[in-house]
Amino acid sequence: MIPSRTNYQKVLGVARDLIQEDLLQVENHIAGVVQAAPPGIHERIDQLTQRKGKRIRATLLCMVSNMGESAPDRIRVGASGAAVEILHLASLVHDDIIDGTELRRGDRTAHVLWGNKIAVLIGDYLLSQAMRCVIEEKNPNIPVILSAAADNLISGEIMEIDFAGRLNLSYDEYIKVISGKTAALVDAAARIGAILAGFPADVVEECGKMGAHFGLAFQIIDDLLDYGVGAENLDKAKFTDIANGLITLPLIYYFKNCSETERSEMQILLAGAAQDKTSEEIIARLEKSSSFELAKNDALSHLEQAIQIAQKLPDTKYSETLAQFFSSVSARPN
Ligand code: FPP
Ligand code: MG
Repeated sequence: MIPSRTNYQKVLGVARDLIQEDLLQVENHIAGVVQAAPPGIHERIDQLTQRKGKRIRATLLCMVSNMGESAPDRIRVGASGAAVEILHLASLVHDDIIDGTELRRGDRTAHVLWGNKIAVLIGDYLLSQAMRCVIEEKNPNIPVILSAAADNLISGEIMEIDFAGRLNLSYDEYIKVISGKTAALVDAAARIGAILAGFPADVVEECGKMGAHFGLAFQIIDDLLDYGVGAENLDKAKFTDIANGLITLPLIYYFKNCSETERSEMQILLAGAAQDKTSEEIIARLEKSSSFELAKNDALSHLEQAIQIAQKLPDTKYSETLAQFFSSVSARPN
């Protein structure tokens, strides 16, 4: 069943209400990082952190951290939640330079505001601060997980750039890219939450798998939003993937199922996409060939697998809301 759009906002609201104290700690920790930054950095990261994202990664971490036998240590949850959000922000600052995008969270991107040189360094500072947030964490696995997630993000992004323009990109290669650039950090957020909940190693691993499935679904849907599929109030630019020669799941399905003539025609259309001359025609062909639908079905299958793991976790107050949230994500509007 595909839930309605309002459901997504509603369930996210219910989840946030359950963990509002923890999210407050996350925000306080982020504010502390901004306050402590030196001039030249302070004002800029202040501006970036004012544009509140959806805080999906911190929300997942906080929700899982509350599923243990006793309440988690809020200071540790706040620091770890801040770490994953700041790492995510660092990666977006760099990603917007790489993709050449001008709009993020409804505002001008860092490189548009301050130029590439400053934006690279702001991203570097944020990455360093993300690691600093967990440097004093008493469980040494937490900084190790976070640093491994950063490595995976970077590898995934490099793979994506290396693969750009390759029309014969395979399904497995695409999954490798998004496993690194997106799912790795969501996986890490869930595992860190599970450690803070005091779960044994096997449950920590299951939570990681749950996060990874959710992350894969999230990116497949994000790639559909880039075509405008299901997008309402999109707070970033459309068609950046085809303009940058990036082949995502709908095109992989299209090329798998099309004729030789259709392949050549699509190749010509993609060559014109950088000037946004052919985007509408590309969309019409992807729609007609059910390529969007096939990609959406894959996202739903990953969401289903995340839901199944969530439903096995203890403390139904949190785990059921999490499962409902996963289920609502297929209809996220931005
Ligand atoms: C958004 O993808 C980008 C990511 C999820 C990860 C980007 C990672 C890097 C730039 C590596 C550097 C990382 C660090 C740790 C500083 P997208 O372009 O598909 O999504 P979008 O539409 O939101 O831009
Ligand atoms: Mg991007």
